[in-house]
Amino acid sequence: MTYFSKLIGTGSAFPEKIMTNAEFEAFVETSDEWIRTRTGIQTRRIANLQKGESTSTIAIAASRKALEMAGISADKLDLIVVGTVTADSVMPTTGNLVQAALGATRAFSFDLQAACSGFLYGLSIADQFIRTGAVETALVIGAETLSTLVNWQDRGTCVLFGDAAGAAIITRTTDPKHSILGTRLYSDGTKGDILKIPHGGSKIPHYLPEYQHKNHTIHMQGQEVFKLAVRSMIDSSLALLSEHDLTPSDVDFFLFHQANVRILEMCMKSLGVPREKTWINLDKYGNTSAATLPVCLDEAMRQGAIETGNKVLLTTFGGGVTWASGLIQI
Ligand code: UT7
Repeated sequence: MTYFSKLIGTGSAFPEKIMTNAEFEAFVETSDEWIRTRTGIQTRRIANLQKGESTSTIAIAASRKALEMAGISADKLDLIVVGTVTADSVMPTTGNLVQAALGATRAFSFDLQAACSGFLYGLSIADQFIRTGAVETALVIGAETLSTLVNWQDRGTCVLFGDAAGAAIITRTTDPKHSILGTRLYSDGTKGDILKIPHGGSKIPHYLPEYQHKNHTIHMQGQEVFKLAVRSMIDSSLALLSEHDLTPSDVDFFLFHQANVRILEMCMKSLGVPREKTWINLDKYGNTSAATLPVCLDEAMRQGAIETGNKVLLTTFGGGVTWASGLIQI
């Protein structure tokens, strides 16, 4: 028997606090006008740690919504994968925190770090487990509280990021027409310096004299990342489509990683994607790293922009650097 993975549920969740562009003007030299015109971002959500909001709490809330849409209980899950670079803790993993909160007693769970590509990496891994028959149903989450890794004195990065979680449930099917058609994952560690978090890992932990808190934050060479993100998302999308003898005009809907509206426009122009065939929400949420794609998927599904039978192409680019594309027929 040949198995495939079918998408049966999605969900998303956010911290309560909405932070506007104008709020940054109080502590860095910036303006609402600069942020809007250079990035497309207007607001973002910020977790309130004092109120108990964290990566796991929004991941759990998004997962509950995905379970509800799928119409299954948590004890049907065999696998939970969380793409995140902002896990609540190293141990237990955020996957385990989600598993415990949901009561997903049968599932094994883990976190994976692929920055903004975390969701597509997780989806691809879960899809492989389902295709081999080892797993029947998987919950894949992209969840981040990047506000905890931002240098609030660096205007070049602090205005870009936000906190969010998106979740998707996939399950075994024998029908290849409504399934994950394929995924392509890429990494290039030689370019790791253009988007990195230098301190706070095991090489320079917080107790060494070299440790500086401002280096335990996101460091980005914006223009280098911009150029590579555009090229990588276009190339990996075309490579995946050509593997399936398809061209962009065969795709019903495109979901791009939400980092900068100018990046989206360049990808759309190059691939010939009209505005109505894509979802843009970075104006509301900013760049939420691994959460951007599952949140877009959830919003587009719930608002009827994506329908049964549609071929949906997802593509992303992230720090370290990583990038990926995925093709799903709903
Ligand atoms: O999720 C992973 C993927 N991430 C991305 O894809 C992000 C990719 N990069 C970008 O989106 C853009 O490069 C940025 C939004 C980060 C920056 O936009 P840019 O048009 O590339 O600006 P820039 O870095 O070339 O900077 C132009 C000017 C500089 O000032 P000077 O040196 O010309 O005086 C910056 O200091 O804009 C300045 N600047 C700002 N000014 C006001 C940078 N950030 C700000 C700011 N407000 N927030």
